[in-house]
Amino acid sequence: MKVTVIGAGAVGATAADNIARKQIASEVVILDIKEGFAEGKAMDLAQTASIEGFDTKLVGVTNDYQRTAKSDVIVVTSGLPRKPGMTREELIGINAGIVRTVVTNALAVSPKAIILIVSNPMDTMTYLTYQIAAEMGISKRKVIGMGGALDSSRFRYRLGEALNVAQSDLHGMVIGGHGDTTMIPLTRLATWNGIPVSRFLSGEKLKEVSDKTMVGGATLTGLLGTSAWYAPGAAIGQIVESILRDEKKIIPSCVYLNGEYGQKDICIGVPVVIGRNGWEKIINLRLSNAEKEAFEKSAEAVRAMNAAL
Ligand code: NAI
Repeated sequence: MKVTVIGAGAVGATAADNIARKQIASEVVILDIKEGFAEGKAMDLAQTASIEGFDTKLVGVTNDYQRTAKSDVIVVTSGLPRKPGMTREELIGINAGIVRTVVTNALAVSPKAIILIVSNPMDTMTYLTYQIAAEMGISKRKVIGMGGALDSSRFRYRLGEALNVAQSDLHGMVIGGHGDTTMIPLTRLATWNGIPVSRFLSGEKLKEVSDKTMVGGATLTGLLGTSAWYAPGAAIGQIVESILRDEKKIIPSCVYLNGEYGQKDICIGVPVVIGRNGWEKIINLRLSNAEKEAFEKSAEAVRAMNAAL
């Protein structure tokens, strides 16, 4: 199996590291526009192989798409990250140009690949990719945006903190757009070993968990001076693993809706089954009225951003 990661920056390199260590691909190609940068990152990562005990081949290239040909999965992380005080939405103009170029180039040589979009504003970049893929005759099921996987892990982190329990015992999902005001942490459905967390946390406490989850990215941007990379890299690794191992995990991800959740012609986060063919099925949750309303608002905000494309 071959994976290409476009963008050798903080998120791309961390994702490549994560994928290589999992031994789920025989080869990971990292591509960047900056001369020598991907080569350097790939070489540095490859020099951990004998210590970490993996055999995945790591290759770095500068803009050489031929070297990415016949990839099974393409991960798009190229583009500018957020700076403190910046919203994901403010990145649209620059990143749309970059995403259009890299997606077109990458799919031209890997038309069978599943493409995972990470660059922000992710919902809109996924919609743009869906449009490019559709023009090339590529199935909507092969276009996935990464947002819910990360937001859900941040949700479980905040739940674990509030409950003082192991995060691995928690289940909780975030759906909707991947923006500070558009994501919807589903507190009502979150469980600790199958027990609803609402049994242990007051409404006020749950709201606090939800609020902290929603500004999870901005909190880190404030601390780091740029956006995060470890959890995004791990979230990418989780999706790529579910694809390559055909795990059929349910991972909230940004996909094209055609009537599901009452929405059409939009890419937004919903729970999907992810396997060898991309997103294979949308899980239809029975949302409460308040959750439905939040989802509609979220979709409206994503649509408004799509209009700027
Ligand atoms: P970074 O600045 O460290 O890396 C971006 C890389 O993209 C740079 O190395 C740059 O040279 C490269 N690049 C720019 N234009 C290119 C092109 N045309 N072709 C190939 N490479 C190109 O940024 P970082 O922190 O890795 O973030 C990358 C993107 O991921 C940002 O848009 C950020 O907002 C987004 N992000 C999304 C998350 C999500 O949950 N969806 C989470 C974290 C970051």
